[in-house]
Amino acid sequence: MVTAEQSLETADPTNIVIFGAAGDLTKRKLIPSLVRMLKSGLVHEDSRIIGVVNNRTEEVWFNLIRESLSEFSPEVGMDDEKWAVFSSRMKMVPGDLAKEDTYTRLAEALESLGGRKNAMFYCAVPPEWYGEVANGLEKSGLVSEDEGYRRLVIEKPFGMDLETARALNIELQSVFNERQIYRIDHYLGKESVQNLLVYRFANSIMEPLWNRNYIDHIQISVSETLGIEYRAKYYEHSGALRDMIQSHLMQVMTLVAMEPPVEFTADAVRDEKMKVLRAVRRFDPDTVKKQTVAAQYASGVVNDEHVSAYVAEEGVSPDSATETFAAVRFYIDNWRWQGVPFILWTGKRLPKKVSEVMIRFRKPPFNLFDSHASIPAANALVFRLQPEGGVVLRLNAKKPGLTTDNEEMVMRAPYADDASEVADAYEVLMHDVLTGDGTLFSRSDEVEESWSIVEPILEAWKDRFSIERYRAGTWDIEAMDELSQDCACGWHKPT
Ligand code: BG6
Repeated sequence: MVTAEQSLETADPTNIVIFGAAGDLTKRKLIPSLVRMLKSGLVHEDSRIIGVVNNRTEEVWFNLIRESLSEFSPEVGMDDEKWAVFSSRMKMVPGDLAKEDTYTRLAEALESLGGRKNAMFYCAVPPEWYGEVANGLEKSGLVSEDEGYRRLVIEKPFGMDLETARALNIELQSVFNERQIYRIDHYLGKESVQNLLVYRFANSIMEPLWNRNYIDHIQISVSETLGIEYRAKYYEHSGALRDMIQSHLMQVMTLVAMEPPVEFTADAVRDEKMKVLRAVRRFDPDTVKKQTVAAQYASGVVNDEHVSAYVAEEGVSPDSATETFAAVRFYIDNWRWQGVPFILWTGKRLPKKVSEVMIRFRKPPFNLFDSHASIPAANALVFRLQPEGGVVLRLNAKKPGLTTDNEEMVMRAPYADDASEVADAYEVLMHDVLTGDGTLFSRSDEVEESWSIVEPILEAWKDRFSIERYRAGTWDIEAMDELSQDCACGWHKPT
């Protein structure tokens, strides 16, 4: 993680190898981040970006990258002069990932670049290729760290259930050491998520309140306005539980719930996160029914535009019961959190794009003021993760005038006055890989533990043939009100 002191630490020169270098992730996220990192000095100017690309010439790939920069990241202002400098650091290796000679060519290309011996291998390809890539690298001698480090970066999903996650871990660990594997969860790269840790552990007023004695419940949510876009094939098998809750939201939950680590290092932090996961109460068929919600969007209006139902999206089966909204009410059975519900929820085609962590405190025990005055609301501390990061504290204050009645007072503190100062998650995470800091990456045991927690839910949902529908652009999901009805102030919909 980039801290204030290290914020300008330039990583050692590295060969940054991208598999899937003509794909969407590379165009939208990796290349723009690398451009900015080179500019800000986070990436050493002697580093090289090597794209492994199939069925394209180097010239075609270069043009594709340049066009995508102007399409997705016009703010980087890639004029001819800048492009000449940036592209002089790029090289393409042609080849099919399934063929051994691709990795031999890659090894030769890295050798020919000379000097730099460090290598980061970024798998911006579908997960079914991860094992193939790791094995190809090993066969061509690219895994040995005799002369420089070798790090493998993979993106979620890390398996589709416990069994496939285990198989993937075993396959990758047969080639790389666990410390060489960086499993990206882009939520942990968001500065506002890291700010959560700083709020918790750099302030002394939080800790005394951060437990079952003062907290009624916690909601961690990602509400999206987008639908599934072009990803029907993946999403039909994934659904919101796998796509968001098992990964991003449970990761954020571990940061909110963990004990203070003994030091801010990768293993100390991940050990504490792991303890939280181990303490999560397991589900059975009965608790799955009572503590989860699944729903799917019907057609509706989002941001003033008519949008179609999930089942009418291209590539989706007309009788699909895949959930586009999911909520799970977790309990963490330990000393600090016994009895406090953690409600994690997420949905697509909702009225707003907002991600939040809301800590709802217990209600005041007694209303001291006018007997007919409204009962003060339970206080809330809301960490807004996006779109604009910040912290909101909701307190009760006296209404002006000759009354002791109260009203809610909202104190807002934006995370950054100038949003352009906030680093993109991929900049933070790639810099961490280049400097060998695994703190914000998921370790294999965390991934397996979170799959084992959601497994009974997946099992119960597997043969579902009908599902509650909500109109796109609305919060009309009745089951959510039921899920949170005994919680202070109920379902917290972001405003
Ligand atoms: C991805 C999911 O991991 O995260 C997407 O696969 C989701 O379905 C996205 O839209 C949300 O990320 P963000 O950063 O836009 O909240």
